[in-house]
Amino acid sequence: MAKAKSIFICASCGAKYHRWQGICSECGDAGTISETLETPAAPNAGARVVQRALSGFAGASGSGVQSLSQVDLQRRPRISTGFVEFDRVLGGGIVQGEVVLIGGNPGAGKSTLLLQTVGKLCTTRKVLYVTGEESLQQVALRAVRLNVDTSTVKAAAENSIDTICQMASSEAPELLIVDSIQVMHIQGVESAPGSVSQVRECAAALTQFAKKTGIAVFMVGHVTKDGTLAGPKILEHCVDCSVILEAGTDMRYRTLRCQKNRFGAVNEIGVFAMTDSGMKEVKNPSAIFLNRADTVAPGSLAMVTWEGTRPLLVELQALVDVSLYGNPRRLSLGTDSGRLSMLLSVLHRHAEFSLSDQDVFVNVVGGVKIEDTSSDVPLCLALISSYKSKPIDKGTIAFGEIGLTGEVRPVPYGQERISEAVKQGFVRIIVPKDNAPRTRFDNNVEIIPVSRVTDLFSLL
Ligand code: TYD
Ligand code: MG
Repeated sequence: MAKAKSIFICASCGAKYHRWQGICSECGDAGTISETLETPAAPNAGARVVQRALSGFAGASGSGVQSLSQVDLQRRPRISTGFVEFDRVLGGGIVQGEVVLIGGNPGAGKSTLLLQTVGKLCTTRKVLYVTGEESLQQVALRAVRLNVDTSTVKAAAENSIDTICQMASSEAPELLIVDSIQVMHIQGVESAPGSVSQVRECAAALTQFAKKTGIAVFMVGHVTKDGTLAGPKILEHCVDCSVILEAGTDMRYRTLRCQKNRFGAVNEIGVFAMTDSGMKEVKNPSAIFLNRADTVAPGSLAMVTWEGTRPLLVELQALVDVSLYGNPRRLSLGTDSGRLSMLLSVLHRHAEFSLSDQDVFVNVVGGVKIEDTSSDVPLCLALISSYKSKPIDKGTIAFGEIGLTGEVRPVPYGQERISEAVKQGFVRIIVPKDNAPRTRFDNNVEIIPVSRVTDLFSLL
């Protein structure tokens, strides 16, 4: 047997080193490198496992070189998960033979969501739920609590990828769920479950298995800050779709966010509420991120951001306060802090509005993270409103990008954003001039086009 040697592996990206170092030179993460004893993995451990499991499977396919036009394109319709929100994040449902990684912090609700999905699917489809973390009693108890019809669910408690592949090839389900990849081990790889090499080989074996059999595989991956478990970064390369389940600052809601998808759009989000009987879909997420109080306070404004394929309305808050300690603080939660500094400079240079002796805090309500640039205009309005202690009317909403020369630039999907704002009852919409509709929009709705950052001051 090959001799075990000691090497150092980064838990985030899987880079290998001969010596310990504090920061991984590949991915830049700190404190993620740890020593492992690695027996040179029997090469192709995964391939052999899959081969063994497939020996009795009828539908297995292997193909040499062929022209793409000869490839059998029996287009099967996507399988719906039973959750509209989940389907949208996956790009319209589960594709045959697709491998999906579901990441998230412990307690985010990954097992709950998957068990509910199984419950919805297994009335019409064959699904196999494999858990490596809980006993079958625990799964059954949870299933009863989630009102899942337990007589139809096929489940197993198993930690060995070899056995799982064999079970799956004899059961031949349409969907195989593996919860979680970090506790699985595969024959031929000596390191402990959860270590980088073990996780990588297990995931590779499951991926090969999915591609050969056409069984879709969902695997759960943990994200931990301390890096003791292999982070999903190394898994993302081999899967087709990677989604992450996050709990925002408001623990009642969970957002499911797509990070990579070979069969659909990324940046798509689905919103769920965690209740005592499991996850419930939130059909109109804009409604939960908006302030419905009757009073208005300075520094608060609604904005329209764009998430994947749909608009999302969120509330933005700014607080500007005299800085007592000479070194003013700038803090932004949910938006990019570099962008905040840039906007402060633009306001100073092009509108003679200086906050250099003020602390500035910005927050997006509900723990939403805004990644598009349409938050520039509302952010500036919120800053001005907070500084001047002038509230903005409740029916007002804004979006738009601001450039370095102080111009307000258009953003994609202007029309759709305006329509969504009108649908949610907003009557005063501040938009970049180039996004303003050419024709009169609606008599009850006032559209205010702005073209320079200086135009914002007259709006309060
Ligand atoms: P779980 O799915 O076990 O999380 P993960 O698999 O991502 O680690 O979810 C656990 C959390 O969800 C836990 O904090 C309790 C909560 N929960 C509910 O609020 N309601 C429920 O019906 C269930 C099953 C869990
Ligand atoms: Mg779990």
